[in-house]
Amino acid sequence: MSSASWDALSVILAKRDGRELPPEAMRWFVEAYTNGQVADEQAAAMCMAVFFNGMSAAELSAWTEAMIDSGTRTDLSAVNRPLVDKHSTGGVGDKISLILCPLVAACGAAMPQVAGRALGHTGGTIDKMEAIPGWDPHLGPEALLAALNEVGAVITAASADLAPADAKLYALRDVTGTVASIPLIASSIMSKKIASGTASLVLDVKVGRGAFMTDLDQARRLAETMVDIGTRAGVKTTALLTRMDQPLGRAVGNSLEVDESIDVLHGGGPTDVVAVTVALATEMLELAGIDADPGAVLASGVVHEVFAAMVARQGGDVTAPRARAPYRHAVAAPSSGFVTAVNALTVGQASGRLGAGRARKEDDVDLGAGIEVLAPVGTEVEAGQPLFLLHSANEQRMAEVNDVLTAAVEIGPEPPDVPDVVIERIA
Ligand code: URA
Repeated sequence: MSSASWDALSVILAKRDGRELPPEAMRWFVEAYTNGQVADEQAAAMCMAVFFNGMSAAELSAWTEAMIDSGTRTDLSAVNRPLVDKHSTGGVGDKISLILCPLVAACGAAMPQVAGRALGHTGGTIDKMEAIPGWDPHLGPEALLAALNEVGAVITAASADLAPADAKLYALRDVTGTVASIPLIASSIMSKKIASGTASLVLDVKVGRGAFMTDLDQARRLAETMVDIGTRAGVKTTALLTRMDQPLGRAVGNSLEVDESIDVLHGGGPTDVVAVTVALATEMLELAGIDADPGAVLASGVVHEVFAAMVARQGGDVTAPRARAPYRHAVAAPSSGFVTAVNALTVGQASGRLGAGRARKEDDVDLGAGIEVLAPVGTEVEAGQPLFLLHSANEQRMAEVNDVLTAAVEIGPEPPDVPDVVIERIA
């Protein structure tokens, strides 16, 4: 059937009434919205209908393919190493890409990571990398290929031509209450990942209080949906479900997270950050067909050299002093005992309030602002001992978040069980 036979209203009505649409109708709708033929209010109604009625696998494939085809697919066929990428659904203190990218490169793969910025309570890899003086998130096509062949590790910002339908749809979903829909999230993430040219992909689907998905079943469904989209599109895709109840590692905020990543790159750092990084790297190297021991490579400290080379290619200097906030404030434990919970959502929101995040896309971030988590789950504390160290340029805001952060920590009489950070694998 030709695209001329579709019109926005009949597509919306069919989706509203729970009827399955032919793939051509889904494709037409995305194309027509991207080129302005379908109005914002019609696309908003369609997203709401999808929110309530979902999409079949065939509808979702067609919708995602149309989003990919709204821009240009990056051609990475000239890269001489196996291509593999990772995507995280976002969390608090999630600095894994900074470590994983040079780690898999050190093991022989090429990771062409197109990353995003902070929005809401979760951080963004591009903001974190920009805490390194001189680092530029933009790289032209030739420089990208050279970096992938010679270093194997690249982190860049998305170009305007990467799945532009997603940029338009995401902005619309953000203001119409239609972000939290599994097919819409899955198509949004996977269209960008597939368009960025990787051959294989590992998804880090975060579950818990600080994640998009707070419920394990929902996270599992999102992971299965994304794995299915990737596989249908010819990209080898698997997923790990990982915990995001408390912040990952000890550092939240851009410069602070770079400091912590550098500790891990030298072979040290918090055990949860190392565990998630090694689990993802193991999965990625298996998809890439590379036989290596990423845990041993990371522990050796050599990955720091690959990171420094990756950063230098984009003008950055890992040894240059990074932005620091002028004020510090310690948040004290209200009682003695064992820390049984640290609410990642509250910590992420408080860090944003201190200047590390942005409420709207156009806001600037304060690279030096953030929070050090001094007493993660399992720590024994005395009343009055610091639970968090706040870093900010705004003393008033530090005072405001003090009580909120005190309430974000639960302290009990018994040491809690600390579960593994990796929950399960979906393939
Ligand atoms: N991240 C994305 O890129 N898209 C979504 O819809 C949600 C998270």
